[in-house]
Amino acid sequence: MGSPVTHWSVQTSKPVQYEIRVCENVFDPDNPTVLEDAAGTAGPRRFVVTDRVVDSLYGERIRAYFEHNGVEHQVLVLDDGEEHKSVEAVLRVSEALDAFGVDRRREPVVAVGGGVLMDIVGFAASLYRRSTPFIRIPTTLIGLVDAGVGAKTGVNHNGHKNRLGTYFPADRTLLDRTFLTTLDGRHISNGLAEILKIALIKDARLFDLLEQHGADLLENKLQSPAAGIGPTPADVPVDQRLASRGLHLDPATEVVERAIHGMLEELQPNLWEKVLERVVDYGHTFSPTIEMHALPALLHGEAVSVDMALTTVMAERRGLVSAYQRDRILGVMNLLGLPVWHPLCTPEVLQPALCDTVRHRDGKQRLPLPVGIGSAVFVNDVTESELASAARELALLTTGAAR
Ligand SMILES: NC(=O)c1ccc[n+]([C@@H]2O[C@H](COP(=O)([O-])OP(=O)(O)OC[C@H]3O[C@@H](n4cnc5c(N)ncnc54)[C@H](O)[C@@H]3O)[C@@H](O)[C@H]2O)c1
Repeated sequence: MGSPVTHWSVQTSKPVQYEIRVCENVFDPDNPTVLEDAAGTAGPRRFVVTDRVVDSLYGERIRAYFEHNGVEHQVLVLDDGEEHKSVEAVLRVSEALDAFGVDRRREPVVAVGGGVLMDIVGFAASLYRRSTPFIRIPTTLIGLVDAGVGAKTGVNHNGHKNRLGTYFPADRTLLDRTFLTTLDGRHISNGLAEILKIALIKDARLFDLLEQHGADLLENKLQSPAAGIGPTPADVPVDQRLASRGLHLDPATEVVERAIHGMLEELQPNLWEKVLERVVDYGHTFSPTIEMHALPALLHGEAVSVDMALTTVMAERRGLVSAYQRDRILGVMNLLGLPVWHPLCTPEVLQPALCDTVRHRDGKQRLPLPVGIGSAVFVNDVTESELASAARELALLTTGAAR
């Protein structure tokens, strides 16, 4: 007779709460928001991480802010760019946190930068002493509407995009759209790709706004007509403002708020991604492989745009989207300055990309395809030949040449 089985099963749950707040002129010396601490236990010191470019543009203002407020601080400046989104960068942050002797109960790390910087710092913060709170201050459009609002951190590793990472939301994200005034047009377009994604899978009104105002949004870098962030009356809940179809909002404000609101509606009920059918994965099936193969030629949003163009063509071939809708979608991508095709759209790249995504999505394609404009469906039966034909058709439509 065998010995009796002894086992313990431990079950617990961890509530998650974090805040995303619009905060104009976040580094105005008299604006206390950065130094507020949710628990009211903030210490007198701050460790700030930023990247080289953001430091050259805003470093002086950031340092002056802490000096003005009598806060001891240190600013670590990392190299910018996707090529530097690496484990080495995470180790650099950890070592600097050690040297600073950060008090993880009282001194939230402050990450000021784009998606790359926030992903690195978030990853480091999640690892450092098993978890150290941090706040995010995004300075790019991708950061404002995407990387800054969810729970994921990560770095590229072993030739793969975001191969190492954690789920670790920042305590707070402070959204200051005035940072976008120094961002170049290409990076504005890059962020508009993630906004277009939300439009295509769940928000037809957002698509119309992009179609009507895309050129202005690009030119004005999503600034509101009057100075700053525009009318966002704090006493009107965001869903009420948006439900009124933006009657009180200028297009730039409405576009950014709708994008964030739509993203959070999808993320909140599935923050740990237990459900693998995620509409927000639209445009992220082939793009991770395309982006890594093309690095540094293609930006994240640009790769997402190519993926969305390809899957729009696929959807049209399946009768999910009309030819008119497909052309409108490709037209808006053009209007927003986004690529719709790339030489890497070959079966040799796309098929392994799909296989890699299938592994990531637990053995099924779970591929979101648009249904009309503003809705999506998941499919699991895309064949190699369907993929190759769609890629050929996309090349024909966009470059006029069969590949
Ligand atoms: N964690 C997530 O949920 C999530 C979501 C979407 C994207 N991402 C990640 O975000 C990254 C892309 O983010 P990104 O597009 O912000 O790239 P990025 O962080 O590389 O920033 C782009 C460039 O703009 C510069 N820059 C930043 N702010 C600026 C400003 N205000 N003015 C002028 N230049 C400025 C940066 O130094 C950099 O050179 C990708 O690595 C992607 O994987 C993460």
